[in-house]
Amino acid sequence: VTPTGAPSDTSAAGDAPPRWREIALLGYTVRVARGIAADAGSIIASVAPAHRYAIVSDETVASLHLEPIRRALGATTGDEAIITATIPAGEHHKTREQWAAVTDLLLARGCGRDTTIVALGGGVVGDLAGFVAATYLRGVPWVQIPTTLLAMVDASVGGKTGVDTAAGKNLVGAFHQPACVIADPALLRTLPERQRRNGLAEVVKHGIIADRAHLEAALHLAQAIVAGDVQSDDVDSLIASSIAIKADVVRRDERESGMRKVLNFGHTIGHAVETASAYSLLHGEAVAIGMVHEARLAESLGVADAGTAAAVEGAVARVGLPTALPLDLDVEAVIAAMGADKKARRSGIELALPVRVGEMAERAGEWSVPAAVGDVRAVLTGGAR
Ligand SMILES: NC(=O)c1ccc[n+]([C@@H]2O[C@H](COP(=O)([O-])OP(=O)(O)OC[C@H]3O[C@@H](n4cnc5c(N)ncnc54)[C@H](O)[C@@H]3O)[C@@H](O)[C@H]2O)c1
Ligand SMILES: [Zn+2]
Repeated sequence: VTPTGAPSDTSAAGDAPPRWREIALLGYTVRVARGIAADAGSIIASVAPAHRYAIVSDETVASLHLEPIRRALGATTGDEAIITATIPAGEHHKTREQWAAVTDLLLARGCGRDTTIVALGGGVVGDLAGFVAATYLRGVPWVQIPTTLLAMVDASVGGKTGVDTAAGKNLVGAFHQPACVIADPALLRTLPERQRRNGLAEVVKHGIIADRAHLEAALHLAQAIVAGDVQSDDVDSLIASSIAIKADVVRRDERESGMRKVLNFGHTIGHAVETASAYSLLHGEAVAIGMVHEARLAESLGVADAGTAAAVEGAVARVGLPTALPLDLDVEAVIAAMGADKKARRSGIELALPVRVGEMAERAGEWSVPAAVGDVRAVLTGGAR
């Protein structure tokens, strides 16, 4: 992470100008600083200049944060250049129907190829608006302004866009890198507490897979972040380092194919728990449970050093995320959701597992480890403890 200059229009008033941190990624940068959203207009107009700007948001985020962004952009580009498209909030609306509604609006308003899409919202808006940008007139530039912690440290990094279908999540989509990501932690003040904690799961994950010091910083700041105390240099720094960890993996995966799998830590079991809970658990909550159980599995397989599972469980608990399966969740339903009931009975389940906090298991360029279904079942039922 390279701290770089100050946002464009810093006044010479007594306060030190807010500096932003910058992470370079696949031809664009992620800029992190509390208050940087006030500069969105000049940043967007300089990284993705266009004739028209279409801000895509959801109803909840729009009611809280659209107006200042629209004004900031309008001051640079003129109000007449701006179109806003708002979708209903929630994962249920990350659909082809909403993709069609937004693209139809852009067509009706006569937006041409010189249109920049601005995604203002959480991962749902980012994925959907990014997919609009990837496909509208075969692709137009876009800028992301993530408004959830999960979107800042995870969804807005890596260029994956897409929508859900009845057959599953994220099944229709495209890679389309944004021109810039503008991450303003001050926007997280309005986020519900449960959603802030949800995003911390991925922050903690980044520490476990790559950087013990990052995990320590996350645990140190967790309480403040959950409480909505998000406007400090320490929080800017934590979010920037979390993005840098994911960015580093994404970048290295271009050469070392398969390394991206380490980002999947906690997700093999986590996704299955999320599905088996019928989405009553948020993604980060399910991943938290997944990380605890995958760390136990790593220890029981002799992959991880003794004490790793306890460290992971301690970290998850300290953030206030769940460590145990919900009591009413059937272990066999979790196994089934892993797709492991039939196909993996012979070959086992592949998981990205830690060796210790800060380091993931790697064998001959492979970043996953096979486990027998019985071993996974044992940790889920508590048999391995
Ligand atoms: N593209 C990727 O690489 C990637 C990676 C991880 C997750 N994702 C996707 O991200 C999505 C989840 O993202 P999410 O957790 O941000 O969910 P989300 O976008 O649904 O946001 C969660 C809720 O918080 C509200 N909200 C957002 N910002 C707010 C704010 N500042 N103040 C108040 N309320 C606010 C939203 O309206 C929504 O109700 C999933 O669809 C997932 O598939 C994508
Ligand atoms: Zn995740």
